[in-house]
Amino acid sequence: MQILKGKKVFITGAASGIGRATAIAMGKLECSLFLTDINGDGLKNTVDIISNAGGRVCLARSFDVGHYQSMAEFAKKVHDGYGSLDILINVAGVALFSQIEDMQHSDWERVINVNLWGVIHGLECFVPEMIRAGNGGHIVSVSSTAGLIGLPWHVVYAGTKHAIVGMSECLRYDLRKHNIDLSVVCPGAVNTGLVQTVEIHSDKEVTDEVRAHFLKRAITPEKVADLIIKAIRKRKFIVITSIDIKFLYFFKKYCFPVYHRIMLAISRIMDKTLKKDVAR
Ligand SMILES: NC(=O)c1ccc[n+]([C@@H]2O[C@H](COP(=O)([O-])OP(=O)(O)OC[C@H]3O[C@@H](n4cnc5c(N)ncnc54)[C@H](O)[C@@H]3O)[C@@H](O)[C@H]2O)c1
Repeated sequence: MQILKGKKVFITGAASGIGRATAIAMGKLECSLFLTDINGDGLKNTVDIISNAGGRVCLARSFDVGHYQSMAEFAKKVHDGYGSLDILINVAGVALFSQIEDMQHSDWERVINVNLWGVIHGLECFVPEMIRAGNGGHIVSVSSTAGLIGLPWHVVYAGTKHAIVGMSECLRYDLRKHNIDLSVVCPGAVNTGLVQTVEIHSDKEVTDEVRAHFLKRAITPEKVADLIIKAIRKRKFIVITSIDIKFLYFFKKYCFPVYHRIMLAISRIMDKTLKKDVAR
């Protein structure tokens, strides 16, 4: 799919960070946008930015992507008023860094609800209609480095993000016959609202340090938006945004003993930084 002008695009998580940057970039490319986020004020800001720049937002509504009924109602509005989507972009997500023994059941539920059910709801409410319409299309889901690598301290986050990679790979083959392409985006550090909202189950004084360290290596959400648009244009499946993660993933695939040693080192560094002294 080379020409994006006029394509009907739905983006979740559009009130902030990667979702907002992608919505703004696609507005400039004259796409017809359908936007959502749980943060109504942030979503309105995004709509204003796009409209003021001459872009077209057909529908914007705030709801929880983890709530099936809300997604289904929004999808019905889109389909009744505008027909099937051309491009679905699942971006909304939350993050939690924790050791398993410090997690409540509600922590698992909260992250799975947004990061996994949110993506599933987007897929189940929009993709069958794309298939029925027979116009082809593209699905982008934002996973993470933690979707390729079992990063220490990321147990629930990595679980949801690996699931996104797995579902995308499956659909990449299932939807080929319908001319619907898949991309799964696996960012490293990105300077977005998530850096402040990530819940870290560690001593209070170290979390600011961790955030500052994370920001030093972070790229902009605009850069990720650019890579998302390139992936759609070039039908690229996996998008890894940072070179260090490309290396780590290479070692995982082609030289597992090296990968394992690096992961043990990362685990020790994270335990030390986040003040968990685990005997090894
Ligand atoms: N920032 C990073 O370093 C980074 C790295 C890897 C992957 N990611 C992934 O990128 C995606 C976008 O995150 P971001 O970095 O732009 O963060 P962000 O916090 O700036 O944006 C996430 C958006 O999702 C929305 N959201 C949260 N819960 C929601 C819900 N229940 N329903 C609807 N919307 C909800 C938030 O309101 C927010 O606007 C996420 O899936 C995240 O896991 C981010």
